[in-house]
Amino acid sequence: MNIPEQYQIKKTITQNTYLVDGELKTWTGETSQVYSTISSTEPYKPTLLGTIPTLGEKEALDALNSAVTAYDKGQGLWPTMKVVDRIACMEKFVTQMKTKRDEVVKLLMWEIGKNLPDSEKEFDRTVDYVYDTIEDYKQMDRDSAKFEKHAGVNAHIRRGPLGVVLCLGPYNYPLNETFALLIPALIMGNSIIFKPAKFGVLLLSPLLEAFQNSFPKGAVNIIYGRGRTVASPIMKDGRVDVLALIGNSKSANALQNVHPKSNRLRMVLGLEAKNPAIVLKDADLDLAINECIAGTTSFNGQRCTALKVLYVHEAIVDEFNKRFSEKVDALKFGNPWEDGAKLTPLPEPDKPAYIQGLIDDATAKGAKIINKKGGETTDNYIFPAVLYPVTKDMRVYEEEQFGPVIPVISFSDIEEPLDDMAASNYGQQVSLFGKDIKTLAPLIDVLVNLVCRVNLNSSCQRGPDVYPFTGRKDSAVATLSVHDALRSFSIRTFVASKDNDYNNAILKELLHTRASNFVSTDYII
Ligand code: G3H
Repeated sequence: MNIPEQYQIKKTITQNTYLVDGELKTWTGETSQVYSTISSTEPYKPTLLGTIPTLGEKEALDALNSAVTAYDKGQGLWPTMKVVDRIACMEKFVTQMKTKRDEVVKLLMWEIGKNLPDSEKEFDRTVDYVYDTIEDYKQMDRDSAKFEKHAGVNAHIRRGPLGVVLCLGPYNYPLNETFALLIPALIMGNSIIFKPAKFGVLLLSPLLEAFQNSFPKGAVNIIYGRGRTVASPIMKDGRVDVLALIGNSKSANALQNVHPKSNRLRMVLGLEAKNPAIVLKDADLDLAINECIAGTTSFNGQRCTALKVLYVHEAIVDEFNKRFSEKVDALKFGNPWEDGAKLTPLPEPDKPAYIQGLIDDATAKGAKIINKKGGETTDNYIFPAVLYPVTKDMRVYEEEQFGPVIPVISFSDIEEPLDDMAASNYGQQVSLFGKDIKTLAPLIDVLVNLVCRVNLNSSCQRGPDVYPFTGRKDSAVATLSVHDALRSFSIRTFVASKDNDYNNAILKELLHTRASNFVSTDYII
């Protein structure tokens, strides 16, 4: 195996601590091995990367108690801290985080198979997200550094934390998506319990100390283990105020359903999607094909925003299929650090078999694999199969494949994709390819009511992270973006007083003495 020196796994990582109560506690109990589906040797063999603690219910509830104590019924150091001081903690954290770039990027490649440029992008984008969040929070604080007066009542309105947040991220963006929940939740003054996803776990090890030394005891708790063993008891207890999860709606529903107080529990969820591309007959075909390639195959289709079904007008479908298939076949498969590797090993060992099942089902029902390499299988990969014509009775039409298989459907009447989208359980984004504004205008006006982002002549994506990221139906609950996430993880809360001399004198004294961290008109520069 020709693995560049700097990316070789020379030593496994023994992650034998977890973060609770501000302490990196040593774990001597059961552990789980973390394997990469990438081989370091010939013949093929998965590579052992290290071990992580398999914590149990007791440790999970210790983490919950730690978060509850840190919040301390709203009296804790973290939720009552001045905004400027919370920001200082976050800056301390991100400064240390930046020093761990190489270690985290290497683990991203091994643990989830993301190629080098995308792994670097995930890290850098996350660092930018932290800085942008800090800036947005400063602006929010500046905007609330004032009093309002209506109908004889003075009000000082801010946003306050909600309490204890359970954060669960996905394996496809184990750093970025997780931090896009955790960072805004934390900076708003909530205390956090965070459990990494099933893959992309060890890459958090280099950051544990930074979490420990940047925030007050109990504000961030990081635990390891199986969802059912650790997340369910935490939810069942009833003291979690927010479930923040990017992943599958089934897990979200299961966790939500065991929480005994449904009105206490807020939810911030990013779930599945089946984003379609609609290619109209006047579309610029080169542009549409390039964007559909990126949309369907980036990170092997393992993105919630990936294009998961292509609707192509019947007048151009043959030409589209021919050129699209050739481009798919030209994509280079390789290990993540290989130059130009666009397709990379799948981190889930059972994924190739699952994708093969979708292909078999579709071909048994009349679809064909129209690209030469479609379905070619190796130890840790199955080459993207372009399937055509796909019909509604096929599993690949219904299921979110989250992997390398591309269903194509032709349409003659635009109502066909619109009806399908309206009937779908999902409603995140769409890509619309075309030029004539007489066709586009009414279509855009409908599509914005079926999904939450219409990408004109471009593939679907979450970024830039300042834009709202949300979805309808089973695709999301609440909105994330740098700006919106701060709001999703907080609530408006205020101090009101009748406008009279007695109250106003008190307010003046509060401001003058700076005795309160909440009642303050200090302006963060
Ligand atoms: O898995 C879903 C991600 O939010 C997608 O983000 O569009 O930046 O790849 P992305």
